[in-house]
Amino acid sequence: MASVIIAGVGSYAPAQVLTNEELSKRVDTSDEWIRTRSGIRERRIAAPDEACSDLALKAAANALADAKISAADIDLLIVATCTPDLPLPSTACLVQHKLGVPAHATCFDIAAACSGFLYALEIAYGQLQTNRYKRALIIGAEKLSTITDWTDRTTCVLFGDGAGAAVLMKSPEPGKGILGTDLGADGEFVDNLYIPAGGSRTPASAESVAKRDHCIRMNGREVFKSAVRVMETVAREMMEQHQLTPDQISLVVPHQANIRIIEALAGNLKMPLDKFFVNLDRYGNTSSATIPLALDEARKAGRIKPGDTTLLVAFGAGLTYGAALVRW
Ligand code: ACO
Repeated sequence: MASVIIAGVGSYAPAQVLTNEELSKRVDTSDEWIRTRSGIRERRIAAPDEACSDLALKAAANALADAKISAADIDLLIVATCTPDLPLPSTACLVQHKLGVPAHATCFDIAAACSGFLYALEIAYGQLQTNRYKRALIIGAEKLSTITDWTDRTTCVLFGDGAGAAVLMKSPEPGKGILGTDLGADGEFVDNLYIPAGGSRTPASAESVAKRDHCIRMNGREVFKSAVRVMETVAREMMEQHQLTPDQISLVVPHQANIRIIEALAGNLKMPLDKFFVNLDRYGNTSSATIPLALDEARKAGRIKPGDTTLLVAFGAGLTYGAALVRW
């Protein structure tokens, strides 16, 4: 079976920086609390006229340039997001039009929260292997600032806006590219992380807006525990399936939610923390964008070299989770 490689990666972060110091003027918090409890120092906030597709577009253009191909070469476009521009149509169709992806391409969004990029990766990987498509563009893009309750100190300190993208294509070289993916979900944990209103259960109303029910609600402690548990399990399974030991993984690119979650994961997997790429200090949690944003920075920083094996691992609302192994 032909290999599927990640031929290009790109990202985009909005220019406006919101520091912990500035946040502590809005809600009862402090730089010290946020740093020690989450590892986050600052996050980016998109401009009022920048929607999810605008962030996605810039990350996608960077990924295409990195892969040295044009938008005209893409026949599968997937956007993972929980902050689409519009409920209808998909953000993928908006990106398709703005980017110039041909009309025969298949374009759709997926909703898997912070695991969305890995869900997109598995779908694109599978579709490329069937020979149905030639080149896929997968994007994780979020404007979480629009679903953040800026009066709730327990959540507003965690999130940021950003986007990341990757181009996937087949390669004749065996043993290269995506070695495998593994996804999962457990709907039992829905209540720990959700947005109460704005969907068909409770459509947006003056009351829901007044109660900020279109913003993220989270039981942080429970999410923390589940995150460590599912990421450890899926990471172990992924390595076992491919007969790899933790020593053979050169870099782990985990979902960037909280440095303490990453530290706990590293400890449980008995892997040194310096094998985990971390940039959440500068971006906070950008949901589906964290992994491609981190992957792009890791490559630019020289942390990924030809022949290296990278483990990508994520969790998100749902509870969704996933992992992927990539050889470069
Ligand atoms: N500033 C100051 N104090 C705060 C803040 C804040 N920003 N937030 C909470 N506190 C207080 C609490 O009120 C509590 O006070 P109390 O002891 O008087 O009741 C105290 O700090 C401790 O609160 P905890 O919730 O126990 O703090 P914890 O150490 O668990 O850290 C955190 C909270 C950072 C949210 C952590 O639980 C976490 O990271 N959880 C996972 C979150 C996550 O990954 N979410 C994923 C979202 S993904 C998506 O799909 C968008």
